[in-house]
This record gives sequence, structure tokens and C-alpha cells, in this order.
Amino acid sequence: MKKSVRKAVIAGNWKMNKTPAETTALINEMKPLVADADCDVVLCVPYIDIAAAVEAAKGSNIKIGAENCHWEKSGAYTGEISADMLVAAGVDYVITGHSERRTYFGDTDVTVNKRTVAAVEAGLTAIVCVGEYLEQRDQGVTNELVAMQTKIALQGIPADKLNQIIIAYEPVWAIGTGRTATADQAQEVCAVIRNTLAEIYCPKCAEAVTIQYGGSMNAGNADELLSRVDVDGGLIGGASLKAADFSVIVKAASK
Ligand code: 13P
Repeated sequence: MKKSVRKAVIAGNWKMNKTPAETTALINEMKPLVADADCDVVLCVPYIDIAAAVEAAKGSNIKIGAENCHWEKSGAYTGEISADMLVAAGVDYVITGHSERRTYFGDTDVTVNKRTVAAVEAGLTAIVCVGEYLEQRDQGVTNELVAMQTKIALQGIPADKLNQIIIAYEPVWAIGTGRTATADQAQEVCAVIRNTLAEIYCPKCAEAVTIQYGGSMNAGNADELLSRVDVDGGLIGGASLKAADFSVIVKAASK
């Protein structure tokens, strides 16, 4: 992390877990544990839990995010939620391009870009996920692939809106597998992302962007991952469902 120039952000991604009542209980448990955090703390929750999460987090340092959004403002898109609706519900962040959306629900680099643009235009901070499959790592194309995903996702995002962008590097092979990238692997790809941002925008602009690592980040490995200069935080799946584990990661990012 390089806190002198950019924010450290620890974000939970609850995925398809927790009812509204369970949301209230978990956030109430987390609040005192993360109250003295010296980093931004975000919980991205299922749509159905947003109202409960916003209410439970009121007056605390926890911000609420969603896990996806549609790119249109409104219309005949059964089952979808727009960025404006999220803002109206009290949401500050939204994940775009998570690999589970890309793999199981047909999201592409192009739709990830549309969602990201809509999120930023609505005033949300987008946590844009990029990352390679194991086959792609084995083929030696990780750096090019992640650079390309980053470039396409940010088409149409002007430099003065970069403060509403977080990039999350999530190697697909590390998600939910317990197989974390090494700190060196995370650093290498986060640096590639930063160089790509420098190329698209400017070196100074790139220095200010928060780049997270995600993929089996937990209470035991967060310190080591966050010790690398270009790893500015984490997008946490499984460990964000346990207040004690999540708060240890928040503490690691607060050093
Ligand atoms: P895990 O931390 O469960 O591996 O999930 C990571 C992730 O996908 C966060 O978006």
C-alpha cells in the first residue's frame, strides 16, 4: 500500500449470502470491530439486503455497496437494478465485472464497461474486477489480458472521474479455492494495472488509483499481500462473512 498517495480500501463481497435479518446481525457485530479503521471499509451485499445494510451501517464508518448494476437508467429489463436505484437506496459502491458474473451470467468486457460508465455517471464508486483463468496464467498471457480488461472497462471514463474507480485484481483460480496468489504475483499484476492506467491517463493519475487484490485473502495472509506497494486493499469473499476475520484484514490495512 502507498497510503501517502492513495486510499487503502477493504471491501467485502458477500456474493449470494445472508438474509436481511442476518445482514443486520453481521453488520452490528462488525461495527465495533472496525470502528477505528485507518482505511475505507465497504460491504457489498445482495440487492435484497441493501436496505437492512444501509440502516445497520448508519452512523458508522462502514459504507455499503452492491454486487452489480445495469447500464440503463430504467426500462424493460426484468430482474435488473439500475445505478440510479442503488444511489437512491443509499449505496456508495458497486462491483462491476466480477468473474462470477463474467463466467456464469454472460458479462463481457463490453458490458462491464457499460456498467462501469453507468455507475460512475450515477455517482457511485465502481470496483472493477479483472483477472485471469488458470489456463491463461499457464499460457503466459496474464499481464496482457488484465491490461486489456482494464482498458476496455474504462473506455469513456474521463481522468477527472478516476477517483470513482477502484480496480480489483482477482485471479479466477484464487477465488473461493483457498489458493491465494503469492504477494509477488499480486504485486506484479497490480503494477501492470497501474502502468496501464498511466498509459491511458497519466502517471500521476495512475498513482492515485486504489488497486485491490482479491482471491482467498484472509486473516492469515492479508498482512503479507498488503505489504506490497501496489496492493492497496482487498476484495474479500468468504472471510467477509465472519466479523472477526474481516476485522483482522481491516486492521492489516490500517497499519
Ligand atoms: P474469496 O475471498 O472467497 O476467495 O472471494 C474473492 C472474491 O471473489 C471477492 O470478490
